Amino acid sequence: MIKKCLFPAAGYGTRFLPATKAMPKEMLPIVNKPLIQYGVEEALEAGIKDIAIVTGRNKRAIEDHFDISYELESQIQGTDKEQYLTGIRQIMQNATFSYTRQVEMKGLGHAILSGRPLIGDEPFAVVLADDLCLNPDEDGVLEQMVKLYNQFRCSIVAIQEVPRDQTSKYGVIDGQMIRDDIYRVNTMVEKPAPEDAPSNLAIIGRYILTPDIFDLIEQTEPGKGGEIQITDALMKQAQQGCVLAYKFKGRRFDCGMTEGYIEATNYCYENFHKK
Ligand code: G1P
Repeated sequence: MIKKCLFPAAGYGTRFLPATKAMPKEMLPIVNKPLIQYGVEEALEAGIKDIAIVTGRNKRAIEDHFDISYELESQIQGTDKEQYLTGIRQIMQNATFSYTRQVEMKGLGHAILSGRPLIGDEPFAVVLADDLCLNPDEDGVLEQMVKLYNQFRCSIVAIQEVPRDQTSKYGVIDGQMIRDDIYRVNTMVEKPAPEDAPSNLAIIGRYILTPDIFDLIEQTEPGKGGEIQITDALMKQAQQGCVLAYKFKGRRFDCGMTEGYIEATNYCYENFHKK
């Protein structure tokens, strides 16, 4: 059973300055809901109720968002505005939240390692909130991955085909297809130039990780950009045992970039909000 989901949320969000100067990028709204709430909803839909968030300085708004605001509650109690809080109230009833801080920014692998005290010795999911993944009316992406984990019991990364000239934005895998949409990973490279990329199968911000990954991250030297990369630790895991890559069903929006953010906003407005 996957019971815990880790959200690395300590990054500075520099691509969205000045909006992210005093506000966490994970709190940027897609229409009227912050990005991280979409991720938490996806975890809950997958049956994962323990939400572990790795934060950093200037991230208090995330903790406040998943807490009661007594002043606001008493202001709107009994008015028609109460309906706007229904979704977040349900989340707070169904999920528990725990937090830890990543004190130094040393990369995604290091952020995940910082979450170790919250996760312990069990398999867990990871969501990068700025990859917004939607699959309305069918299983969400994490739910698809949890089902796969229950069959295979090893680490799984979500992947998507990207244009060749985009490989340097992603971790890229290569492997053997063992079933429709499922690959056994042979190679993984963090942000390769198109000419060095082993394929055009890019890792998207959804992972299921077995807990031996923590020791592997500890043994991982800084890689691309001088940072400790989860991709490098996963490569070791693939060499020692098995890592799967799963071409998920659904749409993914790169909300870490303005174009993807606007596309996601338009999509959510058209599909979920427009009357
Ligand atoms: C991270 C990972 C990368 C992955 C990407 C997905 O990169 O390091 O392997 O492909 O997330 O969004 P980042 O976008 O944080 O630079």
